[in-house]
Amino acid sequence: MTGLPFPTVRGASPVPGGAAGSSPGTEGAPEGTVGLPDRFGRVARDLRVSVTDRCNLRCRYCMPAEGLPWLAKPEMLSDDELVRVVSVFVRLGVRQVRLTGGEPMLRRSLVDVVRRIAALEPRPRIAMTTNGVGLDRLAQPLADAGLDRVNVSLDTIDPQEFADLTRRDRLHDVEAGLKAAATAGLVPVKVNAVAMRGINDHSVTDLLQWCLDRGYELRFIEQMPLDAQHGWDASTMVSSQELHERLAERFRLTPLPREDRGSAPAERFLVDGGPATVGIIASVTAPFCAACDRTRLTADGQVRNCLFSQRETDLRGPMRDGASDDDLARLIQGEMWRKAPGHGIGTSDFVQPDRPMSAIGG
Ligand code: 5AD
Ligand code: SF4
Repeated sequence: MTGLPFPTVRGASPVPGGAAGSSPGTEGAPEGTVGLPDRFGRVARDLRVSVTDRCNLRCRYCMPAEGLPWLAKPEMLSDDELVRVVSVFVRLGVRQVRLTGGEPMLRRSLVDVVRRIAALEPRPRIAMTTNGVGLDRLAQPLADAGLDRVNVSLDTIDPQEFADLTRRDRLHDVEAGLKAAATAGLVPVKVNAVAMRGINDHSVTDLLQWCLDRGYELRFIEQMPLDAQHGWDASTMVSSQELHERLAERFRLTPLPREDRGSAPAERFLVDGGPATVGIIASVTAPFCAACDRTRLTADGQVRNCLFSQRETDLRGPMRDGASDDDLARLIQGEMWRKAPGHGIGTSDFVQPDRPMSAIGG
């Protein structure tokens, strides 16, 4: 690990073993706990659900070329199980459900799952993080079923770079998917990009111009140590500062006041005086853990309180053994109560999670 600045987590008091990877907590939430608080005063309201661990791309920062040992169907939550768990989360105060993967559209029943989540009371906002392949056909049915927003992952608009980075020649599908999302009213259409040194870091300004021309809201995310091969290295990561410098070579960036940032992790800038903006998410060099309101459900029914957590709480087993909704609620609350104050990337006791992003749910 090289000399990047790793500030302590904003607002979180240091506790021994405080990194996500080493949180020793085993206790459940106190009796009478309401909602999904943790020990540091944060409350989870945003649930990320991985609906499948499979993907049709092979992004280098995520998966090896040959893919991963995918979950077998019986290991995955059925639609009934998935919707039931989401309904318990909604009862516990979750107000936004983000469907992720892998590539969520590879789950054949996705439209139906969206429709069923949209029927919950109170109806959560429903978003999806997708690579966009196949979105040209599914954007309208998903919007009709109740999907509110999409984030499309697109790291470059150079066809060669795209093929290098994703190991698939599907840039046209992603472009068509983005167009369809806008037509279906899934607006503002957001684009997420990861910059990788030596692969797409020189074309980030082209990507921003392309998004500006089409009215897509672009956000860069620092590459996190989540790849399946554990090959992440802080020195090859393109930091938010470096990205800012690159973008500033071509665009005038004016930081939006902090108040406008809320608990959203992106630092946003007006581009050339606005109204268009670009976001930079410094998930590694300036972690937003202290304001985190997220929780996660994996495709095989494990609750994770953090992407970087070293442990999970199984809901699938108890559910298949006849657990009640109250039992599930208590298990979920216990998992949230154990949430560590920060991910601890850059600290000596940081341990990369065993499961890659595609299995956990971005
Ligand atoms: N670091 C940062 N972002 C990642 N993503 C996948 N792996 C990583 C990583 N190691 C992004 C994808 C997508 C979202 C689900 O997370 O590009 O935008
Ligand atoms: Fe698939 Fe997303 Fe991983 Fe790329 S980053 S391989 S699109 S799951």
